[in-house]
Amino acid sequence: MRKLLVTAITTGFAVFSFAAYATPQEDIEAFQGYFKERFSDVPLEAYNDGVNALPQYAERRENWVLLMEFPPYEEQVEVGRQEWAKPFANGKTFNDCAKDWPPANVYPVYDPASDDLRTIVGDINACLKANGEEPIKNVKNGKMARLVIAYKEQFNGEPINVDISDAGAVKWYEKGKQFYWAKRGQLNFSCADCHVHSAGLSVRGDVLSAGLGHTTGFPVYRTKWALAGKPLGTIHRRYGGCNGQVRAQAFKPQGPEYKALELYEAVMNAGIPLKVPSQRQ
Ligand code: HEC
Repeated sequence: MRKLLVTAITTGFAVFSFAAYATPQEDIEAFQGYFKERFSDVPLEAYNDGVNALPQYAERRENWVLLMEFPPYEEQVEVGRQEWAKPFANGKTFNDCAKDWPPANVYPVYDPASDDLRTIVGDINACLKANGEEPIKNVKNGKMARLVIAYKEQFNGEPINVDISDAGAVKWYEKGKQFYWAKRGQLNFSCADCHVHSAGLSVRGDVLSAGLGHTTGFPVYRTKWALAGKPLGTIHRRYGGCNGQVRAQAFKPQGPEYKALELYEAVMNAGIPLKVPSQRQ
């Protein structure tokens, strides 16, 4: 078997060499094991707090805990619940579709018939179409983000548990894994360079979150996005922002690259409870 070390960067911390030939289960153990060793006081469940979970963020965390007493996203969440419950022209609602959907903690879901990945965003638009309504074009923020929250929040606390037992699903997984560890952009950084090797370090006033836990809080309410008038964002909005940071081209939200990436990150999060929405800087 061809052994390929996609990356092995030294940052002064333990070097995490990443083996392209490992099975998904081995990958989960290596990925979670790395963070367990690196941040030994942070329990697995706490990674759904994003950067707030890390000891390097401890001072700012106090403010964040205070802020969470009256979370700034409440109003948006309430609007989303109403949008979710509002009947379509034919009298049906999202609930009529969602009763046949898998629980939110197992998404993205591989569909063998189409050899494609189902995301909640995709299922919401499919539901609209099936009921003679216009699909939502903006799948990064606004109404789509609110609807995703309205579905996901019903499963808060459920541990992430994505099924990739099908050989077709493993192909998507490998694609996402490749994407995560491949260097790109003018700065030539991989996702892992920032969110694995440099997790906990500061860049331009931000502390870098651990890749572990990514996806569990999304869609999130972000103060930076709120200042620009669009407070909520889906995980694909965030991916686009991170690609932009290294001056790489962002891919299309809900396109194959970001769906594969979402799958890979969700698989790594096995066992971490869903916490939607979350607040971020
Ligand atoms: C140059 C460093 C850098 C690179 C490379 C990078 N990011 Fe980020 N990313 C950040 C910063 C800074 C933030 C905001 C602080 C934080 O939560 O880490 C962030 C936030 C995130 C978040 C939000 C986490 C949360 O819980 O709110 C996700 C998800 C994410 N990045 C995924 C990725 C993925 C996937 C890639 C590869 C395509 C990537 N990032 C590449 C710097 C980077």
